[in-house]
Amino acid sequence: MASSRNALGGSSSDSGSSGRSGSSNNGGGHAIEIKDLACGYGKNQVLHGVDFSADLSKITAIVGSNGSGKSTLLKALFGLCDVKSGSIQALGRDITHIPTHAILNYGISYMAQRKNVFQDLTLRENLAVVAGRQRADRAMDHFPELLPFLDRPAVTLSGGQRQLLAMAMILVHNPKIMLFDEPTAALSPKNADIIIEKIKNLNAEHDNCIVLVEQNVKYALRNCDKVYLLASGHVVYGGDPEPLLNDKDLASKYLGM
Ligand SMILES: Nc1ncnc2c1ncn2[C@@H]1O[C@H](COP(=O)(O)OP(=O)(O)OP(=O)(O)O)[C@@H](O)[C@H]1O
Ligand SMILES: [Mg+2]
Repeated sequence: MASSRNALGGSSSDSGSSGRSGSSNNGGGHAIEIKDLACGYGKNQVLHGVDFSADLSKITAIVGSNGSGKSTLLKALFGLCDVKSGSIQALGRDITHIPTHAILNYGISYMAQRKNVFQDLTLRENLAVVAGRQRADRAMDHFPELLPFLDRPAVTLSGGQRQLLAMAMILVHNPKIMLFDEPTAALSPKNADIIIEKIKNLNAEHDNCIVLVEQNVKYALRNCDKVYLLASGHVVYGGDPEPLLNDKDLASKYLGM
């Protein structure tokens, strides 16, 4: 994909047909380091012995079939599921058993897969729910395309615009780690591109660590630095995106590619 400007503003530059390159590492430890994680919801254990790491300035994708545990892995990082064993380190802290509000204060934000904005509130009101005026204004600097709609209820936005609002709502926290759960789901290819370009721009501008769950596997592999493939709560692949694209056995067995 070549460098381009998109319809909602912002620019993009992709580094090749699969994966990205050229960004720096965390100068030592990983921004996120999960070891041997077992977690789930009450008695329902979803993840089994998961090892995972992600770095600053990189986009790390998580792919896998429906129900494989992708959202649960993000929720574990945001204190939203029950950890049975293992450990979760983020930005040099142990957050394994830390409550969500504290995790947010440590610089980690999460954009949920569904219902991530208040439909009946205006954009301005949505932002007011999560931040004061100054921080909301700063976040909106990244989304000039939304400014004309500030006083419209979120329900009147297009799917792509709604996802941009959801992104603005997590950006107000000025996070170092951003967790995105299927931000392009149900969007047209054009709008999906706009969202992904925005995520890449944020990654490039802020050197943050982005973890991206994406249902379109080829799309994820083309737009990430590193990928994890989950199957039934286990990591069956973790590493560079390119070998996964070329491994027909793994791709057809777990991803229907
Ligand atoms: N709140 C919950 N309580 C109990 N079980 C849950 C809960 N949320 C998810 N699960 C179960 O955990 C398993 C993994 O779900 P998860 O949402 O992590 O999968 P996923 O890979 O994100 O799937 P999808 O691609 O459909 O979004 C599923 O069997 C699901 O039914
Ligand atoms: Mg999910």
